[in-house]
Amino acid sequence: MQQTLVAKRILLGISGGIAAYKSADLVRRLKERGAQVRVILTGAAQQFITPLTLQAVSGNPVSTSMLDPAAEAAMGHIELAKWADLIVVAPASADIIAKLAHGMASDLLTTCVLASAAPVAVAPAMNQQMYNNIATQTNLATLKKHKFHIYGPGAGEQACGDVGYGRMLEPLELVTLIEQSIERPATATSRLTGLRFTITAGPTREALDPVRYLSNHSSGKMGFALAAAAAAMGADVTLISGPVQLATPAGVKRTDVISAQQMHEAALKAAVNSDIFIGCAAVADYRAAEVATSKLKKGSSEQLQLNLIKNPDIIAAVAGLTKQRPFTVGFAAETNDVLSYARKKLTSKKLDMICANDVSQPDAGFNSDQNAVTLLWQGGEQTLALQSKAALAESLITLISKQFSNKSTTSEANK
Ligand code: PMT
Repeated sequence: MQQTLVAKRILLGISGGIAAYKSADLVRRLKERGAQVRVILTGAAQQFITPLTLQAVSGNPVSTSMLDPAAEAAMGHIELAKWADLIVVAPASADIIAKLAHGMASDLLTTCVLASAAPVAVAPAMNQQMYNNIATQTNLATLKKHKFHIYGPGAGEQACGDVGYGRMLEPLELVTLIEQSIERPATATSRLTGLRFTITAGPTREALDPVRYLSNHSSGKMGFALAAAAAAMGADVTLISGPVQLATPAGVKRTDVISAQQMHEAALKAAVNSDIFIGCAAVADYRAAEVATSKLKKGSSEQLQLNLIKNPDIIAAVAGLTKQRPFTVGFAAETNDVLSYARKKLTSKKLDMICANDVSQPDAGFNSDQNAVTLLWQGGEQTLALQSKAALAESLITLISKQFSNKSTTSEANK
């Protein structure tokens, strides 16, 4: 086990939510990596997990109230706030997010956050409707503006049976993000300020008739994670999305499209006002030559021939711009000879970088919460192992913006 957090002091705040059961595992994972962990449990959190459990895994007394003289005598709340190198609230309920966004100090956890100069991260965990609610999204945007780190949430089936965004990230995903927050403290969240990204995400749908279409399995998760990561680092992000079931990440401007032709038009319009263009969408290569105006009827024949014509290649058009061309990064979704096909696309589409994405793996690529890619460019490559799309997106945005600034510096020097 790599000791990536040796002597780092992490104050973990646990608020009320079913995901609180995962927090004991998070404490264990942090300690394995050398961190010192102290825990604050809110009143609601104690309905889901006991102080005794967290005391056992953290090896430290657990604080639950500002009005507990014994706990205050051991380490007062101001001392606790000063002790932390990083405060992580996981799970962060809609209620605690609202309190933090408004600077409240109504209990021990919110008071410690307010009294601390340490960076603070929240890992939202709530019902998908609560997460999508404009009030929660506004509160998260406020926290982002106040330089909080926002970890996730992930998407999937929820304890209440709903499906969507609002699941707390898994402990190991949180550990990766905590390691990154500690590596790049405070000002790092705004290091992409002034940089303009356009990112495409999701599938396109190519109509055959009023009720049928051609499409693919893209969920939009990878593109949305990239948009969220770039916005969290302070960039100005435009997201052009095909039809998906995802909430817009905080601080991101979104344009919804259906077909490849619509995405082509929206992408070219946004690209000329961007520094970096990332084509993560799974664009249909072909569309019906003619779209039937009424529902196609089942004929007597056993076969149906579809006459398809090529869609415009969006990313090649962006990379081919002669004026206001952004630094252009593509994805190559492949099932075999992944690196070799990706290299060919890097050259034939005249891209600056490409993410070779092996989509033959069941736990990566299309519609998975995890992914692994190899990022290729002229003269370099970097492989990023299987991890959550949120963690992968952070690394990709960091590598892409670094390569972009190297290229900008070189072309300035050559002028
Ligand atoms: O959305 P998720 O479920 O999270 O899945 C993520 C993903 C697998 C869709 C994503 O990681 C990915 O690999 N996206 C690219 C999918 C794809 O269409 O790859 P491609 O090899 O067919 O296309 C190569 C590049 O050309 C891509 O950048 C694509 O956006 C672009 N393209 C393709 C065709 C076209 N007509 N116009 C394009 O711009």
